[in-house]
Amino acid sequence: MSLLFAFLLILSCNCSLLLAKNKNISCEHLVGRLGNCQSHFVYCATTKSVPVRLCVGCEPEYRNLTHSYDELLSNANCSKIYLDSDRINVVATTQGILTNLWQKASCEDCYNGNHSEMYDEKWVILDGCLSANKDDPCTACKGDYIELNQFYLGMEKANKGHVCFDLQDRMNRTRSNWSKTLKCCQREVKLNTFIIAVFVVVLLPILTFYITAIVLTRRREANHGLLNEETPELDAPTTSALITAAVLSTATEPPVAMAANTEKIARVLSGADIDSESDSMLDSSDEEVLVKPRRA
Ligand SMILES: *[C@@H]1O[C@H](CO)[C@@H](O)[C@H](O)[C@H]1NC(C)=O
Ligand SMILES: *[C@@H]1O[C@H](CO)[C@@H](O)[C@H](O)[C@H]1NC(C)=O
Ligand SMILES: *[C@@H]1O[C@H](CO)[C@@H](O)[C@H](O)[C@H]1NC(C)=O
Ligand SMILES: *[C@@H]1O[C@H](CO)[C@@H](O)[C@H](O)[C@H]1NC(C)=O
Ligand SMILES: *[C@@H]1O[C@H](CO)[C@@H](O)[C@H](O)[C@H]1NC(C)=O
Ligand SMILES: *[C@@H]1O[C@H](CO)[C@@H](O)[C@H](O)[C@H]1NC(C)=O
Repeated sequence: MSLLFAFLLILSCNCSLLLAKNKNISCEHLVGRLGNCQSHFVYCATTKSVPVRLCVGCEPEYRNLTHSYDELLSNANCSKIYLDSDRINVVATTQGILTNLWQKASCEDCYNGNHSEMYDEKWVILDGCLSANKDDPCTACKGDYIELNQFYLGMEKANKGHVCFDLQDRMNRTRSNWSKTLKCCQREVKLNTFIIAVFVVVLLPILTFYITAIVLTRRREANHGLLNEETPELDAPTTSALITAAVLSTATEPPVAMAANTEKIARVLSGADIDSESDSMLDSSDEEVLVKPRRA
């Protein structure tokens, strides 16, 4: 019992000694540690940038980084020396850039809940399927692909678009692999062309019907317009033509007929006996007169 007590006492003594040691760490040492952590994190982020493995791959480096920065901040003397000491504020600026990178990539999302692990599981299933069915991955792995995609979409909706960037990048690559490398979206393209073809087949007769109807009605209207416009124009030539024709005919009419005509006209004008009979007589004689010269 006393032994245990002594042991605990020694332990607590050691602990307090350790704490004192920690507290007494010089500011140069603290800043040096922070610099090391920063460079480790930068190295990790840069080397794991394609494909993006920042959030999952550099988490220990990031935790170290924030921890050493917090240590520097918690030491009032050191923070007084290294922070807000000048306008550029190098230590705070470099730290800000690095934490901003982490936040911009929504990396904490990878560590909230277990959806990152669930996504990994689904991705591993799809990847296994893809490597097992190299000859026909589209039909064999369609279900797995759709499930992964649906899970991702649900995640995106739940996080309002701030999905851990490692997962965003992986989904992006999986999608482009699916549609561009494996060409599994060809059927959708075919469906699109099919729909377009159906539209053309259905719409073309309707369109041609309407176009021909429009053209025909336009043409008919144009013809009407021509007639309406030309009738008054036609009147003048017809009258002139009639006059010339009459002049020509009178000129060509033999003098005998001319005499007969004038005689008849004179008779009609002076004639007291204007009745139906004489009219008919005149008509018939007129016809006779008109016919006669042709015979002659
Ligand atoms: C702790 O700091 C004091 C001065 O602040 C110094 O004299 C002492 O040597 C330091 N001890 C260690 C272990 O660094
Ligand atoms: C974290 O920091 C400790 C010491 O500060 C170091 O031993 C360790 O390797 C660091 N871890 C990483 C992942 O950089
Ligand atoms: C800060 O410095 C003062 C003396 O300048 C010292 O008394 C104090 O213990 C130091 N504080 C820390 C946290 O090292
Ligand atoms: C994630 O959590 C849910 C319940 O919260 C559990 O059903 C599921 O098995 C977990 N998945 C993983 C990969 O841990
Ligand atoms: C793309 O799919 C093929 C299918 O076999 C697979 O081998 C390859 O690793 C995939 N690439 C990516 C980036 O997922
Ligand atoms: C997905 O990939 C395309 C190029 O393949 C890129 O332009 C786009 O920014 C990527 N999206 C994300 C969220 O990484």
